[in-house]
Amino acid sequence: MDNQKVTINTLLEMKSRGEKITMLTCYDFLMAVLLDSTGIDIILVGDSVGNVLLGYENTIPVTMEEMLHHCKTVTRGSKRALVVGDMPFMSYQISMEEAVKNAGRFLKEANVNAVKLEGGEEIIDIIKKLVGIGIPVMGHLGLTPQSINVFGGYGIRGSSGEESSKIINDAKKLEKAGVFAIVLEKIPSKLAEQITASLKIPTIGIGAGKYCDGQVLVTHDMLGLFEKFTPKFSKRYAEMAKEMRQCFKSYIDEVKNQKFPSEEHSY
Ligand code: KIV
Repeated sequence: MDNQKVTINTLLEMKSRGEKITMLTCYDFLMAVLLDSTGIDIILVGDSVGNVLLGYENTIPVTMEEMLHHCKTVTRGSKRALVVGDMPFMSYQISMEEAVKNAGRFLKEANVNAVKLEGGEEIIDIIKKLVGIGIPVMGHLGLTPQSINVFGGYGIRGSSGEESSKIINDAKKLEKAGVFAIVLEKIPSKLAEQITASLKIPTIGIGAGKYCDGQVLVTHDMLGLFEKFTPKFSKRYAEMAKEMRQCFKSYIDEVKNQKFPSEEHSY
């Protein structure tokens, strides 16, 4: 791993030489330090913080202040990775002025390198404006959890002809509007392959198969820390929640039985 800061140009170069891009979510300083030291390319401060850390049912209630708070802790802990902050629901949909003001806060106050917005054609003007004034934007198509009330569930997107055509068109429009990468969530592998081949910018898949230029997972899912729900597309690389519970039980047991603190841990 080299220590050069990852930029949006690094990602374009990686796509052109066929090197896969890695992205994981992160919501705090400690995890950011750990992730950054392993050579992850992109750290996403996802609005999934709502479900994973804040105890909300979905990402809809997440606020600007919550996102900025978590982004600030993450950027204090990361030096090498490109840090992307997720713009929460209704922080960019109300008006251009609100979108610009809120996106600007991510860069000015929270020191992130880019913002991510969910949506296609309907937010093209906003994306053009942000990119035009110097705010790098990552797109997000397919299953876009902020629209869960319209979709009516977390099912796979783009399996009908009409929906897959819309996702292909949206991807092309997002590229033209200036996004530097697009997250493709929960769409068929074949569709993701077609989109990836048709774009110059990288695609980052989550539940979108192996043909994307990169992959993203929710870190707390892949660590086995978030036990409430594990989507089929998420691979568990550890069972951290079980391990943590075991540690807590050992501590309780040792305190109750006066094994801790021992001489070794006393003054
Ligand atoms: O909020 C999030 O964590 C995301 C990823 C699932 C891409 O948007």
